[in-house]
Amino acid sequence: MEIEEAIKNRRSIRKFLAKDVPDDLVAELVEAARLAPSSHNAQPWKFLVIKDRDVKEKLKGNAIFKHSFVYDSPLIIVCCADPDLSARPSDLTFSDTDVSGKTGRDLAFACQNLVLRATGLGLGTCYIGMVNREKIKDILNIPKNYILPFVIIAGYPAEEPNATPRKRTDEIVLK
Ligand SMILES: Cc1cc2nc3c(=O)[nH]c(=O)nc-3n(C[C@H](O)[C@H](O)[C@H](O)COP(=O)(O)O)c2cc1C
Repeated sequence: MEIEEAIKNRRSIRKFLAKDVPDDLVAELVEAARLAPSSHNAQPWKFLVIKDRDVKEKLKGNAIFKHSFVYDSPLIIVCCADPDLSARPSDLTFSDTDVSGKTGRDLAFACQNLVLRATGLGLGTCYIGMVNREKIKDILNIPKNYILPFVIIAGYPAEEPNATPRKRTDEIVLK
Protein backbone atom coordinates (compact mmCIF):
# COMPACT_ATOMS: atom_id res chain seq x y z
CA MET A 1 0.00 0.00 0.00
CA GLU A 2 1.30 3.44 -0.91
CA ILE A 3 1.74 5.97 1.87
CA GLU A 4 -0.99 8.18 0.39
CA GLU A 5 -3.42 5.25 0.45
CA ALA A 6 -2.54 4.44 4.08
CA ILE A 7 -3.06 8.07 5.08
CA LYS A 8 -6.43 8.17 3.35
CA ASN A 9 -7.67 4.71 4.40
CA ARG A 10 -6.71 4.82 8.06
CA ARG A 11 -9.67 4.90 10.45
CA SER A 12 -9.88 4.48 14.19
CA ILE A 13 -10.85 0.83 14.65
CA ARG A 14 -12.47 -0.24 17.89
CA LYS A 15 -13.65 -3.77 16.98
CA PHE A 16 -11.24 -6.52 16.05
CA LEU A 17 -11.40 -10.10 14.80
CA ALA A 18 -10.41 -12.74 17.35
CA LYS A 19 -7.23 -13.38 15.40
CA ASP A 20 -3.72 -12.96 16.73
CA VAL A 21 -1.32 -10.53 15.09
CA PRO A 22 1.84 -12.49 14.18
CA ASP A 23 5.05 -11.48 15.93
CA ASP A 24 6.77 -10.52 12.68
CA LEU A 25 4.06 -7.92 12.04
CA VAL A 26 4.43 -6.60 15.58
CA ALA A 27 8.15 -6.26 14.86
CA GLU A 28 7.31 -4.29 11.68
CA LEU A 29 5.22 -1.87 13.73
CA VAL A 30 8.00 -1.26 16.23
CA GLU A 31 10.48 -0.87 13.36
CA ALA A 32 8.33 1.85 11.77
CA ALA A 33 8.27 3.69 15.11
CA ARG A 34 12.01 3.24 15.55
CA LEU A 35 12.74 5.05 12.28
CA ALA A 36 10.83 8.23 13.19
CA PRO A 37 12.58 11.60 13.45
CA SER A 38 13.09 13.22 16.86
CA SER A 39 14.47 16.42 18.28
CA HIS A 40 18.29 16.09 18.43
CA ASN A 41 17.69 12.46 17.47
CA ALA A 42 16.89 11.80 21.13
CA GLN A 43 14.55 8.87 20.34
CA PRO A 44 12.92 9.04 23.78
CA TRP A 45 10.10 6.58 22.93
CA LYS A 46 9.50 3.26 24.66
CA PHE A 47 6.84 0.71 23.75
CA LEU A 48 5.32 -2.13 25.70
CA VAL A 49 3.28 -4.51 23.56
CA ILE A 50 0.63 -6.38 25.53
CA LYS A 51 -0.85 -9.54 24.01
CA ASP A 52 -1.22 -11.67 27.10
CA ARG A 53 -4.83 -12.25 28.18
CA ASP A 54 -3.88 -12.36 31.89
CA VAL A 55 -2.22 -8.96 31.68
CA LYS A 56 -5.29 -7.54 29.91
CA GLU A 57 -7.47 -9.03 32.66
CA LYS A 58 -5.27 -7.41 35.30
CA LEU A 59 -5.66 -4.04 33.56
CA LYS A 60 -9.42 -4.63 33.41
CA GLY A 61 -9.55 -5.52 37.10
CA ASN A 62 -7.90 -2.18 37.84
CA ALA A 63 -10.21 -0.21 35.52
CA ILE A 64 -7.25 1.20 33.62
CA PHE A 65 -9.26 2.15 30.54
CA LYS A 66 -12.58 3.92 30.22
CA HIS A 67 -13.69 1.83 27.23
CA SER A 68 -14.24 -1.91 27.65
CA PHE A 69 -13.34 -2.60 24.00
CA VAL A 70 -9.70 -1.82 24.80
CA TYR A 71 -9.32 -5.01 26.87
CA ASP A 72 -10.64 -7.09 23.95
CA SER A 73 -8.05 -5.80 21.47
CA PRO A 74 -5.45 -8.32 20.27
CA LEU A 75 -2.67 -5.80 20.94
CA ILE A 76 -2.46 -3.00 23.46
CA ILE A 77 0.65 -1.01 22.67
CA VAL A 78 1.58 1.18 25.62
CA CYS A 79 3.28 4.29 24.23
CA CYS A 80 5.54 6.12 26.62
CA ALA A 81 8.74 8.14 26.56
CA ASP A 82 11.56 9.16 28.85
CA PRO A 83 11.83 12.97 29.22
CA ASP A 84 15.36 12.57 30.57
CA LEU A 85 16.44 11.55 27.08
CA SER A 86 15.05 14.79 25.61
CA ALA A 87 16.70 17.22 28.01
CA ARG A 88 19.66 19.14 26.57
CA PRO A 89 21.25 22.06 28.43
CA SER A 90 22.12 23.88 25.18
CA ASP A 91 18.42 24.20 24.36
CA LEU A 92 18.09 26.88 27.05
CA THR A 93 19.72 29.33 24.63
CA PHE A 94 16.71 29.08 22.39
CA SER A 95 14.12 29.04 25.18
CA ASP A 96 13.31 25.50 24.10
CA THR A 97 12.76 24.42 27.68
CA ASP A 98 9.51 22.54 27.30
CA VAL A 99 11.16 19.17 27.72
CA SER A 100 8.04 17.10 28.20
CA GLY A 101 6.44 18.84 25.19
CA LYS A 102 9.45 17.80 23.14
CA THR A 103 9.24 14.26 24.45
CA GLY A 104 5.55 14.12 23.65
CA ARG A 105 5.86 15.34 20.10
CA ASP A 106 8.73 12.94 19.36
CA LEU A 107 6.64 10.07 20.70
CA ALA A 108 3.70 11.18 18.56
CA PHE A 109 5.80 11.13 15.37
CA ALA A 110 6.94 7.58 16.13
CA CYS A 111 3.39 6.49 16.90
CA GLN A 112 1.94 7.88 13.70
CA ASN A 113 4.66 6.00 11.77
CA LEU A 114 3.52 2.87 13.61
CA VAL A 115 -0.16 3.52 12.89
CA LEU A 116 0.38 4.12 9.17
CA ARG A 117 2.56 1.04 8.89
CA ALA A 118 -0.18 -0.96 10.61
CA THR A 119 -2.70 0.35 8.06
CA GLY A 120 -0.38 -0.72 5.26
CA LEU A 121 -0.19 -4.21 6.78
CA GLY A 122 -3.99 -4.53 6.89
CA LEU A 123 -4.26 -3.89 10.62
CA GLY A 124 -6.63 -1.51 12.34
CA THR A 125 -5.56 0.79 15.16
CA CYS A 126 -6.98 3.34 17.55
CA TYR A 127 -5.20 5.76 19.84
CA ILE A 128 -6.64 5.59 23.35
CA GLY A 129 -6.07 8.58 25.59
CA MET A 130 -8.69 7.56 28.18
CA VAL A 131 -6.20 5.75 30.37
CA ASN A 132 -5.38 5.93 34.06
CA ARG A 133 -1.76 6.91 33.49
CA GLU A 134 -0.35 6.58 36.97
CA LYS A 135 -2.03 3.28 37.72
CA ILE A 136 -1.00 1.63 34.46
CA LYS A 137 2.62 2.63 35.11
CA ASP A 138 2.41 1.01 38.56
CA ILE A 139 0.95 -2.22 37.24
CA LEU A 140 3.35 -2.57 34.32
CA ASN A 141 6.47 -1.38 36.18
CA ILE A 142 6.97 1.59 33.87
CA PRO A 143 9.21 4.28 35.41
CA LYS A 144 7.21 7.04 37.07
CA ASN A 145 9.00 9.86 35.23
CA TYR A 146 7.98 8.57 31.79
CA ILE A 147 5.20 10.33 29.97
CA LEU A 148 2.39 8.03 28.89
CA PRO A 149 -0.07 10.08 26.84
CA PHE A 150 -1.95 7.18 25.23
CA VAL A 151 -1.91 3.55 24.19
CA ILE A 152 -2.58 2.23 20.69
CA ILE A 153 -4.86 -0.75 20.25
CA ALA A 154 -4.35 -2.87 17.15
CA GLY A 155 -5.57 -5.99 15.43
CA TYR A 156 -7.37 -7.21 12.34
CA PRO A 157 -10.39 -4.94 11.82
CA ALA A 158 -13.90 -6.26 12.39
CA GLU A 159 -15.55 -3.02 11.29
CA GLU A 160 -15.27 -0.56 8.40
CA PRO A 161 -16.17 2.84 9.81
CA ASN A 162 -16.87 5.78 7.52
CA ALA A 163 -14.37 8.58 7.43
CA THR A 164 -14.89 11.13 10.19
CA PRO A 165 -15.27 14.78 9.13
CA ARG A 166 -12.28 17.03 8.60
CA LYS A 167 -12.00 20.79 8.39
CA ARG A 168 -11.73 22.33 4.95
CA THR A 169 -8.25 23.23 3.74
CA ASP A 170 -9.03 26.96 3.89
CA GLU A 171 -9.85 26.56 7.60
CA ILE A 172 -6.40 25.24 8.44
CA VAL A 173 -4.10 27.17 6.12
CA LEU A 174 -3.21 30.57 7.57
CA LYS A 175 -2.99 33.46 5.15
C1 LIG B 1 -4.22 11.24 21.10
C2 LIG B 1 -5.53 10.59 20.75
C3 LIG B 1 -6.30 10.03 21.76
C4 LIG B 1 -7.50 9.37 21.45
N1 LIG B 1 -8.20 8.79 22.46
C5 LIG B 1 -9.31 8.09 22.15
C6 LIG B 1 -10.02 7.40 23.18
O1 LIG B 1 -9.68 7.44 24.36
N2 LIG B 1 -11.11 6.68 22.84
C7 LIG B 1 -11.53 6.57 21.54
O2 LIG B 1 -12.52 5.87 21.29
N3 LIG B 1 -10.87 7.22 20.54
C8 LIG B 1 -9.79 7.97 20.80
N4 LIG B 1 -9.09 8.59 19.81
C9 LIG B 1 -9.53 8.47 18.41
C10 LIG B 1 -10.20 9.74 17.89
O3 LIG B 1 -11.49 9.83 18.43
C11 LIG B 1 -10.21 9.68 16.35
O4 LIG B 1 -8.89 9.68 15.87
C12 LIG B 1 -10.95 10.86 15.74
O5 LIG B 1 -12.31 10.84 16.09
C13 LIG B 1 -10.85 10.84 14.20
O6 LIG B 1 -11.37 9.63 13.67
P1 LIG B 1 -10.45 8.68 12.77
O7 LIG B 1 -9.24 8.31 13.57
O8 LIG B 1 -11.28 7.48 12.42
O9 LIG B 1 -10.06 9.45 11.55
C14 LIG B 1 -7.93 9.29 20.09
C15 LIG B 1 -7.14 9.86 19.08
C16 LIG B 1 -5.96 10.50 19.39
C17 LIG B 1 -5.12 11.07 18.27
